[in-house]
Amino acid sequence: MKNFLPLAYFQNQFISIEKAQVSIATHALHYGTAALGGLRGVLNPQNPSEILLFRLDRHCQRLSNSAKYLNYDLPADKIEHIITDFVLKNRPQTSFYLRPLVYTSSLGIAPRLHQIEQDFLVYGLAIADDLYPEGISCRFSSWYRQEDRSCPLKGKTSASYITSALAKTEAVESGFDEAILLNSQGKVAEASAANIFIVRNETLITPSCNQDILEGITRDSIMSIAQDLGIKTEARAVDKSELLIADEVFVCGTALKITSVNRIENYRLPDNKTITNQLKKQFTAATENKAPQYQDWITIIKLSTNQQM
Ligand SMILES: Cc1ncc(COP(=O)(O)O)c(C=O)c1O
Repeated sequence: MKNFLPLAYFQNQFISIEKAQVSIATHALHYGTAALGGLRGVLNPQNPSEILLFRLDRHCQRLSNSAKYLNYDLPADKIEHIITDFVLKNRPQTSFYLRPLVYTSSLGIAPRLHQIEQDFLVYGLAIADDLYPEGISCRFSSWYRQEDRSCPLKGKTSASYITSALAKTEAVESGFDEAILLNSQGKVAEASAANIFIVRNETLITPSCNQDILEGITRDSIMSIAQDLGIKTEARAVDKSELLIADEVFVCGTALKITSVNRIENYRLPDNKTITNQLKKQFTAATENKAPQYQDWITIIKLSTNQQM
């Protein structure tokens, strides 16, 4: 378990990650009745005794909303408090990824969300700053993104990730890095665990929130940054054919940050990635608390004094 942070939050307490174990009869394990979060923490490049968390409030609110689909009342401020405590207790020494999870924790069978217990856990692991520094190749998935009418896509529910997993493995096993999923209408939705943007004629375009996407927090941040940089933005339905002739394509998410797409199936995208690079630069500055206009997006956790600003 060398990449994990030493302590986990599990069943209302902090214990060593090795001891945080669930039973084989755990309800969520059988039915996917869980919802997850995912956020990055970095050491403040200006002061390594401070940890910077990006858009903690938005992550906690999304997880609290996701918990509602599980019939679980878990206020965002409670999640925020536990995550802050988690960081203070673990004192990370490198960039890390935090995985909070809410799940039905009763032992037993029958898919349901009533008359069942829930638990909230958090663990963390070290993560590289850039997962694909050279960019990625993508293929269209033969699996379609679920529809909101059959799965609550405004939440980050675990059950929806079967499609992501199928799509990712199909892509990798056929020689690509990542999958692009269309929605049931045949419009572009997103990548397996990231949102997608294209640039056409100097306009930044991304599928709108009614296209069965996950409402990504990175996506939202990029839209704001682009608007502040004076880049024209559009959130709308995106056709598959637009991707193949786009000037630039990138995927984005907490884990992938902004990752350029170099090739989609047999279509090579242009090497010039002016807008992507401009956004990457400003996004990195925002996450490292070097862009004063995005200071509100950063929670600073001071390890030395055990205080949060
Ligand atoms: C399916 C899916 N879409 C999009 C995203 C990007 O969301 P965020 O920017 O909030 O990390 C993720 C992130 O995990 C995801 O799993």
